Amino acid sequence: MSERRDVGVGVIGVGGMGGRHARNLARQAVGAKLVALMDLDQARAAEIAADCGVTARLFDDGVALIDDPTVEAVVIASPDATHAALAKACIAAGKPVLCEKPLATTLAGTQEVMAAEVSGGRRLVQLGFMREYDPQHVALKKLLDDGALGRPLYFRGMHNNLALVPPRDQASIVVNSAVHDIHSARWLMADEISQVMAQSVPSQPDMPDSSRLVQLQLWFRKGSIGNIVANMESGYGYEVVVEITGDTGMGRTQSLGSPMVRGNGQAGRAVEPDWLERFDVAYVLEMQAWTQSLRDGRATGPSVWDGVASLNVAAACLESLETGQVATVSPMEMPDLYEG
Ligand SMILES: NC(=O)c1ccc[n+]([C@@H]2O[C@H](COP(=O)([O-])OP(=O)(O)OC[C@H]3O[C@@H](n4cnc5c(N)ncnc54)[C@H](O)[C@@H]3O)[C@@H](O)[C@H]2O)c1
Repeated sequence: MSERRDVGVGVIGVGGMGGRHARNLARQAVGAKLVALMDLDQARAAEIAADCGVTARLFDDGVALIDDPTVEAVVIASPDATHAALAKACIAAGKPVLCEKPLATTLAGTQEVMAAEVSGGRRLVQLGFMREYDPQHVALKKLLDDGALGRPLYFRGMHNNLALVPPRDQASIVVNSAVHDIHSARWLMADEISQVMAQSVPSQPDMPDSSRLVQLQLWFRKGSIGNIVANMESGYGYEVVVEITGDTGMGRTQSLGSPMVRGNGQAGRAVEPDWLERFDVAYVLEMQAWTQSLRDGRATGPSVWDGVASLNVAAACLESLETGQVATVSPMEMPDLYEG
């Protein structure tokens, strides 16, 4: 019986997130091997290759990596504005891709990627909404799907970052950060968002276009409601908590992974500093699901449609921030490719 050959993977962008994906691929995944890295910072790419213990080829151009015959699948973890063009190049080359969120920085950009994938007739892209692999989120999703909470009525999402510098503008906080929470809301509630009302608190009073915190009020198509608060400067650590109220119960994820410690007349738990610690297990499980999908020859998990639908909601949030009014999310039909 012939042994299965490991699939050759190239990683584009090996900063904080791409470096973690490269390490998880090299150390924790089965059936795939790291063969190529690309980063504008070549020294960083060489450092990650050495840390992964592989003699991967280093590229200085993302499309050249995608087109290389030794690269059979690609991880895109370069900055947001590069995702759509690189994802389209992967689709054109017929190569499966794990693409970090957001799929693109504009709704039109996400739709171009979807048009390319739909016209190719098969799913090639898994999008990096890694909360779908976080055991806490998975457990809550199962409770909801099993009907244990009854009909979902209310979604509450809290997303606290320690301190992102430089201060974010309103578009970036919504499109880069709150897009995770928008996806969580759609995925967990198994519904699409129809209207939003967005409000923002500036990072500094004299910087009105900056955004320290956004609140997004949500209305879902089936009648439920929700609220997301994404805070870029919590001042104490990183936490993501989701709470869902159903008509027969409620469920809430736990963010902190540390033990409760009691001493000196106090009881408390340490807070993770960032997403790489809070979601460390989710990133491994996400990578393992992706390499499994490479072996199965069929993309799974968050899709290009999820990238389009979440940016569609993000676009309405930006409109609401601009007008100060409730904004309607443009109705869109999901292509058949993304059914099931
Ligand atoms: N899913 C998640 O939880 C999660 C968490 C963090 C970041 N991200 C996403 O991952 C991506 C990278 O974020 P990060 O935190 O690793 O940023 P980072 O700044 O730590 O790393 C970005 C890397 O990309 C390189 N780079 C810059 N321009 C490039 C280009 N044109 N081509 C290739 N490489 C280029 C930089 O040199 C750097 O090494 C972003 O799109 C971000 O939204 C996702």
